[in-house]
Amino acid sequence: MHKAPMAVIPPHIVSLADYEPCARERMTDVAWTYLQSGAADEITLRRNIEAFQDLHLRGRVLGEVTGGHTRLNLFGHIYDHPIFLAPLAYQKLFHTEGERATALGAAVTQTLMILSTLSTVSLEEVAQAETAPPLWFQLYLQADHGVSLDLIHRAEREGYRALVITVDAALAGIRNREQRAGFHLPPHLTAVNLANAPAKPPPAPGQSLVFDSLMKTAPGWSDIEWVLSEARLPVILKGIVAPEDADHACRMGVHGIIVSNHGGRVLDTLPAAIDALPAVVAAVAGRVPVLLDGGVRRGTDVFKALALGASAVLIGRPYIHALAAAGPLGVAHAVRTLREELEIVMALSGTPTLDRIRPEHLFI
Ligand code: FNR
Ligand code: LAC
Repeated sequence: MHKAPMAVIPPHIVSLADYEPCARERMTDVAWTYLQSGAADEITLRRNIEAFQDLHLRGRVLGEVTGGHTRLNLFGHIYDHPIFLAPLAYQKLFHTEGERATALGAAVTQTLMILSTLSTVSLEEVAQAETAPPLWFQLYLQADHGVSLDLIHRAEREGYRALVITVDAALAGIRNREQRAGFHLPPHLTAVNLANAPAKPPPAPGQSLVFDSLMKTAPGWSDIEWVLSEARLPVILKGIVAPEDADHACRMGVHGIIVSNHGGRVLDTLPAAIDALPAVVAAVAGRVPVLLDGGVRRGTDVFKALALGASAVLIGRPYIHALAAAGPLGVAHAVRTLREELEIVMALSGTPTLDRIRPEHLFI
């Protein structure tokens, strides 16, 4: 039997990393493996963290920060702070209330939550909660345009403010740690938003599992064009690493880009997200906002991403650690902790507002 989530946050939890051991003892081995693992040799997974640690601040002193704040405007909405919750599948693996609990923790801290297509609480239920956070919907394009369109319309009807199309995970990738642990989703957990979606066709004998089955119905650029023609919401592509792809997306009329390697889970040896950011920002050249996720664990990491041109960042695993450890309270406390760290870095760097955080604040 696993321990229940904590009802109060103990005083020794003072950073996001402190949640990890508390989460581990409240999760099954299966859930822990699914959450923590990366693709293949987990080189990208590790680099996401190391690259932030390798980057240093320049240290500017005696700056005036009176009236400082962390607000930002994205796609016509004001957000209190630039730390968003990344879309993360199957959250009932980590807490009995799943995405419902995450949403409550996000709501009380005025944090944007991006709900995964593969959520275990329906997109309607999350949006209709009495205390709901600002929401974006992460879309995994489905083989059938009708199924995708239904998801888009449902998200629009429920007040989601943007569509985040994840473009880097047409396949799950090589998940060796999951394979070694014999990972499988417990049968009682399903992607409830996709209750009516058909399964992928198996390959015929002698055909390639990858090319003739798994990728047969994978999305391409023309499907992004199709979403842009159908959706009324801003469309953001998540999983861009190469500047050419960012440029292509901008030319097509996409409204935002999330630089991400999917937390190192899909294609191993991609560069760290923070290392990929500058070239993408240069290619986008101000046409649309650029966000980043992967390895953000400290206020200094948020600051570094903003200094290199990101408008906001997403956190993934850390808020799930907090969710498993202490439910909505944990999520709220984790976000508040990271936000306070960011405010302290801003204050010590003489940057009262996010737009004042520039490349010249980095030691490069
Ligand atoms: C993810 N991620 C993800 N992304 C997405 O677009 N849709 C999804 O359903 C999921 N599911 C998912 C499950 C789990 C267990 C993890 C760890 C990640 C990727 C996620 O949105 C984000 O890109 C990374 O988690 C960011 O990296 P960090 O903060 O975990 O280092
Ligand atoms: C993952 C998928 C669900 O990373 O995006 O596990």
